[in-house]
Amino acid sequence: MKITARAHTNIALIKYWGKRNEQLFLPMNNSISITLDQFYTTTSVTFRDDLKADSFILNGSEMGGQETDKISGFLDLIREKARRNEYAVIDSINNVPTAAGFASSASGFAALAAAATKAIGLNYSGADLSRISRFGSGSACRSIYGGFVEWNKGVRADGTDSFAEQIIDESEWDLSILSVMVESKPKKVLSREGMQRTVKTSAFYSGWLETIDADLNFTREAIQERDFEKLGTVLEHNALKMHATMLGANPPFFYWTGSTLDVMHKVQELRDSGIQAYFTIDAGPNVKVICQPEDERIVKESMQQIQSVRDVFVCHPGPGVSYIGE
Ligand code: ADP
Ligand code: DP6
Ligand code: CO
Repeated sequence: MKITARAHTNIALIKYWGKRNEQLFLPMNNSISITLDQFYTTTSVTFRDDLKADSFILNGSEMGGQETDKISGFLDLIREKARRNEYAVIDSINNVPTAAGFASSASGFAALAAAATKAIGLNYSGADLSRISRFGSGSACRSIYGGFVEWNKGVRADGTDSFAEQIIDESEWDLSILSVMVESKPKKVLSREGMQRTVKTSAFYSGWLETIDADLNFTREAIQERDFEKLGTVLEHNALKMHATMLGANPPFFYWTGSTLDVMHKVQELRDSGIQAYFTIDAGPNVKVICQPEDERIVKESMQQIQSVRDVFVCHPGPGVSYIGE
């Protein structure tokens, strides 16, 4: 049976940057995100007993060895849980640029987990889906839920308590998240490799871990209190700290371009003029600017005025994973 699922990307306010166990995708620290309404992946999965291998079609093109191997490795886990061995056809459409710092790995693996588990006959809860999506891409475990979400790193060695939970749903606090695109090319250093190098070699990684609990507490409070200035202050601080850990890695690396800096300067200028806007950046050059809906228009216009900005997409908190055609 063919099953189709959709999952939205998410943007981390407090970042996941580093694994304590790479095989089990266990993070060093908790992370907190907002699921986005405008960026998503739609994936159909059909298990068939006449196939000799999995076939992965992304945006209409058959994917090659490396990309398909990643998907097959993930489906092996699901086949093992279901005690089945059929291969599958996976047909996926990204309504988001792939591997460009827009979290396609999050929406991609959350949608795949939901479609594949159901197609193979497993009846998974949200927590089960979150736990298994983690094995495709860590950030995917947060995309199972809508609104504001926290991934609990868990304490058990086997990872069974490492999954995401919703803090508040998408209707409980409306914010504007502007995705400011300066570049849509795939990145040179994938998130997985970047965080691994950082954990192994960065002179600043200990500082990241020492200060993360304070950032998490501050963020949880800001969400409960709906205190935008408090949220904005801590999310920008956390993003800059994550990027600083990469500068301390060996060999060092960074994702920013000149245009990234142009956008960051503009956000600071807006704040100087009394408009509350804050930025965050994932593993890529593009910037997400977060503001309150009443300031959305002026912030968007300011971003569009920057010469090096190609496009500005406006998102709001969006929904969790869903099945299509039911
Ligand atoms: P991003 O910033 O887009 O999340 P990452 O480096 O984290 O970039 O991950 C990119 C990887 O995510 C791709 O190389 C691919 O393995 C995976 N991915 C992207 N889209 C999909 C999809 N629709 N289904 C499954 N995997 C996907
Ligand atoms: C900077 O989840 O893409 O976006 O688990 O290795 O697949 P893997 O990495 P991924 O890393 C996301 C890193 C980040 C921060 C975040 O989303 O929390
Ligand atoms: Co990713």
